[in-house]
Amino acid sequence: MTTKARHFLTLADFSRADLRRYLKRAVRLKASTRAGRRNTCLAGKILGLVFEKPSLRTRVTFEVGMRQLGGDSIYLSAQEVQLGVRESVGDVAHNLERWLDGIVVRTFRHEVAEELARCSSIPVINGLTDLVHPCQVLSDMLTVLEKRGRLEGIRIGYVGDGNNLANSWLLGAALMGMELTIACPKGYEPDRAILRTAKEKAKETGAKITVTHTPKKAAKNADVLYTDVWTSMGKEKEGARRRVAFKGFQVNSALVAAAGKDVLVMHCLPAHRGEEITDEVLDGPHSIVFDQAENRLHAQKVLLEALLGGQKGKRSTRGRP
Ligand code: CP
Ligand code: NVA
Repeated sequence: MTTKARHFLTLADFSRADLRRYLKRAVRLKASTRAGRRNTCLAGKILGLVFEKPSLRTRVTFEVGMRQLGGDSIYLSAQEVQLGVRESVGDVAHNLERWLDGIVVRTFRHEVAEELARCSSIPVINGLTDLVHPCQVLSDMLTVLEKRGRLEGIRIGYVGDGNNLANSWLLGAALMGMELTIACPKGYEPDRAILRTAKEKAKETGAKITVTHTPKKAAKNADVLYTDVWTSMGKEKEGARRRVAFKGFQVNSALVAAAGKDVLVMHCLPAHRGEEITDEVLDGPHSIVFDQAENRLHAQKVLLEALLGGQKGKRSTRGRP
């Protein structure tokens, strides 16, 4: 599979048709991986992971995904790279493009990921910025599709912080014609520009996008109750203030009961047990959080195939003799 989008920085980089194609492919690739069939379409390719924040799922799934596809990966922590600190973001890109076939970047400011992509002749995939987490929501859409057989019209009730996850859900739900209700405390709403873009897109796709400050409104009739940490990586100093502001926004048994008996509970993980979600719910019968975690692998393998698969060797010719 190939794609016109060379980079994947937000879900808005893809069309609805692209996403449908990727999700369909992910279902097939997951089945063939589980059946033990080998697909080595990325033999000889090397992916670099430039991570300035910690990671379990994103790191392991990209590294395992590359190996399963016949390629390899190299992990670079903030210790080694320090985008824009030890050297400029552009210089990092012009080095990495000489050795690697693709980059996954996890950083703070989204603009840094954008600059890395702008300067790089090899594909750049966003492995999380403060603004969005597109790989997570792409994988989550695969999980919802598997569990409910469709995305169109599926009702997602997102309860918690209007953070990178909420922003990516706005773009994903708008593209795929879903009904998304985000319930967050006042002052913790999702990104305004992304909300505007999502509402515009929703007019074309039939999606319904609502932001409320009442968790029960998000839970009511929800097919999926989704939550994420109240304090994202990099915001630790705000932890105490956030625990006060988010009181009442916990996904607990009472909220699950308000949603209905067939509701699926999703969380991108890591969870702060006892804050945004109780043990009872996270470990309970509605929870599908580890299916979500597994699907990071399958969905991202499709991304890797699409973005890195079409290339013949390293692409940069900048300054080459
Ligand atoms: N959900 C997620 O991205 O997990 P990590 O931060 O562990 O990669
Ligand atoms: N919103 C969380 C997601 C972690 C995967 C964070 O940015 O820390």
